Amino acid sequence: MRLAFLLSGRHPDIGEWEIRQLYGAYDIKCDFERTDRVLLVNTGEVPPFVERLALTHEIIRVHDIATKSEIQRLRFEVPSGYTACIRVKKIGFHKESSEELEKKLGAILYRDGIRINLDNPDVIERVYLVNDMAIAGELAFRNRRKDLNARVPKNRPFFFPGVILPDMARALVNLTGVRGGEILVDPMCGTGSFLIEAELMGIRSVGMDVLGRMVYGSENNLRFCGCNGHLVIGNALQMPFKDGSFDALTTDFPYGRSTRIVGRRDELYRGVIEEAHRITTRNSFSVFVSMEDLDGYFQELFRPVKKFSDRIHKSLTRRIHLVQKN
Ligand SMILES: C[S@@+](CC[C@H](N)C(=O)[O-])C[C@H]1O[C@@H](n2cnc3c(N)ncnc32)[C@H](O)[C@@H]1O
Repeated sequence: MRLAFLLSGRHPDIGEWEIRQLYGAYDIKCDFERTDRVLLVNTGEVPPFVERLALTHEIIRVHDIATKSEIQRLRFEVPSGYTACIRVKKIGFHKESSEELEKKLGAILYRDGIRINLDNPDVIERVYLVNDMAIAGELAFRNRRKDLNARVPKNRPFFFPGVILPDMARALVNLTGVRGGEILVDPMCGTGSFLIEAELMGIRSVGMDVLGRMVYGSENNLRFCGCNGHLVIGNALQMPFKDGSFDALTTDFPYGRSTRIVGRRDELYRGVIEEAHRITTRNSFSVFVSMEDLDGYFQELFRPVKKFSDRIHKSLTRRIHLVQKN
């Protein structure tokens, strides 16, 4: 049995790695195969971390895969006595209309003796049309994105422009593979986006910022979202933490617009990366976000695992670096 994860259309690469890192953190061995926005994982069990996922829209338990031209031979598995309906999701361009395909496939189900209920079925059979494939399976999980949207930065008491949105903040925390009960640090926490998402996933968090108003603002934002978290005012170039204190680190370097840079940018990159290495545990993962490529700064301290970019507007593309401590 396999699962198919339908990834966010805006950030499918980060969505894939969010899943890979969490499978790794939970010690579940599996293989991954990605086609466009669909990630196939060769395990039948819905993993225990699904509620954490930010960039997965839904998951199906795969029953069958056919080429698009043989879509009418798809096999569905509806337990006897259950009602069902077919919902087709087109990924990319396909000239057939979803409605027509749903009717055609629904007729096959009906012929096989399954009762169809379009309004309130017991089982939703999903069919993803992706490239030349049709992937069929039962809907097993749907993301409650409403919760994420309720805490967008502009709804929080402390706000500045350009902050990372909750779904991206959550995904970047998840990229570290940090587990519930472990501790994550953000040494340049700004308005606290990473800390909020970590706390809401049962991860303990420590935030720091060189500006007192950011620390107080983060504190208000955390409280507004019903979270605790520990906050300190301090310089990320000299962090007031003991060696090996944290299981994971996610941080976003200042861009020099709404967030001022004190000193030289390259010194900040070098110094923060050295301190991050000192305060995190061996083999732990860190995520560094910046407007520039940081590859030259990791040297022997961290091993680059994966790099992503997120275009915000014409003159700002965020570089997202997932690295592992050597
Ligand atoms: C891009 S913002 C972080 C945004 C944050 N991720 C959020 O969600 O709001 C960068 C932050 O780094 C802080 N900062 C700049 N230099 C710092 C330093 N040397 N030590 C600690 N914080 C610093 C700035 O005050 C700013 O709040």
